[in-house]
Amino acid sequence: MEITHIPAGTLPESEIEDTVAEVVAFDRVVNSASGLGPDFDPRSAEVRRQLQRTNDYTTHALWLGRLGGDIVAKGIAYLDLQDNQNAAEIHVAVHPEHRRQGLGSELLAVMEEQLAGEGRRTLTSFAETPAGVVDREPRTARIAAASGTGALPSALPEVAFARAHGYSLRQLERCSVARIREVGDDLVGGGEVAADGYAILTWAGPTPEEHLEALALLQRRMSTDTPGAADLEEEEFWDADRVRANDADREASGKRLMTALAMKGDEVAGYTQAAHFAERPAVGDQGGTLVIAEHRGHGLGARLKRANHATLLQESEVERVYTWNAAENSWMLAINDLAGFETYAWTSVWKKITT
Ligand SMILES: CC(C)(COP(=O)(O)OP(=O)(O)OC[C@H]1O[C@@H](n2cnc3c(N)ncnc32)[C@H](O)[C@@H]1OP(=O)(O)O)[C@@H](O)C(=O)NCCC(=O)NCCS
Repeated sequence: MEITHIPAGTLPESEIEDTVAEVVAFDRVVNSASGLGPDFDPRSAEVRRQLQRTNDYTTHALWLGRLGGDIVAKGIAYLDLQDNQNAAEIHVAVHPEHRRQGLGSELLAVMEEQLAGEGRRTLTSFAETPAGVVDREPRTARIAAASGTGALPSALPEVAFARAHGYSLRQLERCSVARIREVGDDLVGGGEVAADGYAILTWAGPTPEEHLEALALLQRRMSTDTPGAADLEEEEFWDADRVRANDADREASGKRLMTALAMKGDEVAGYTQAAHFAERPAVGDQGGTLVIAEHRGHGLGARLKRANHATLLQESEVERVYTWNAAENSWMLAINDLAGFETYAWTSVWKKITT
């Protein structure tokens, strides 16, 4: 297999569009074999962004493995530049017709070696398995997550592959879907100050200047105050500039964000965000949700999400919103159940420290 390493921003402009088309076609075949459904198909704007754009905070690297000129394997690394510089989040996929021939292992070895050369030895990875596949054979042998909640059948290809390469299963995330158009008018928007003093503000698109500091604080807390955070990453560095840069990057990749922010007077209490894409208008993607510790216990999580869903209903064509939560985060899962979400798939989170 011929392997090329493409750090974001290094491919000549003239090769970008052909490569985007090839990668999208490959990702589509992989997704179709996964059973996750077309909502999980690749988006060309996202692939283009991974090849081209890099900012001061995050970048990507791609590895393409070819046989006879065709892509048969793909690896990607998501890289933080200001924090987590000894770490990378990676993902490997092999064309369904070329599996069990060692190609995934060959590509992963090259990725691990190159990342180690850049000082990135703490590797996390993820795999997504439809709920129906996990439930299919309840009596098969399972591997438990180190977090203590949830287990996956050990015979699943993604589980066997990750374990064969020394990755340990740290955590399971529940991917759930809310079909918001079916709930429709029941959803209430934000805006007014409720009897308990909390106001929920919502907006579409980039963060207004007056809320940049609030969002930076909430994003920083997101990297420390969520289940599993201490095991999987360091505190992320966030300031108003990073929030602004992140927003600009999103807009450039065709991603539109809806944000709901909870405030009590001048105090920031929590937020939730959901994104949707020009390329796939019916599908929304839940972003971060956090209620700061001092403000928990007031139902703000569900209130924020419902206000955000109401804004999505009014200002977008989104019909379904997907969200990912740690399986042990029973508090957030209960909020999601209240906000109309149901289980769709399980995401396994893996970790390895390379030598
Ligand atoms: C997981 C994936 C990348 C494996 O790619 P691959 O090229 O088939 O993997 P390899 O041939 O290098 O397999 C290496 C080892 O992994 C294990 N393995 C891989 N697929 C397996 C399967 N279907 N059943 C059991 N073990 C499997 C075996 O131990 C295998 O070694 P062996 O063939 O000598 O027994 C591929 O199935 C895939 O693309 N899946 C969808 C994407 C995905 O889930 N990626 C996340 C990976 S964490």
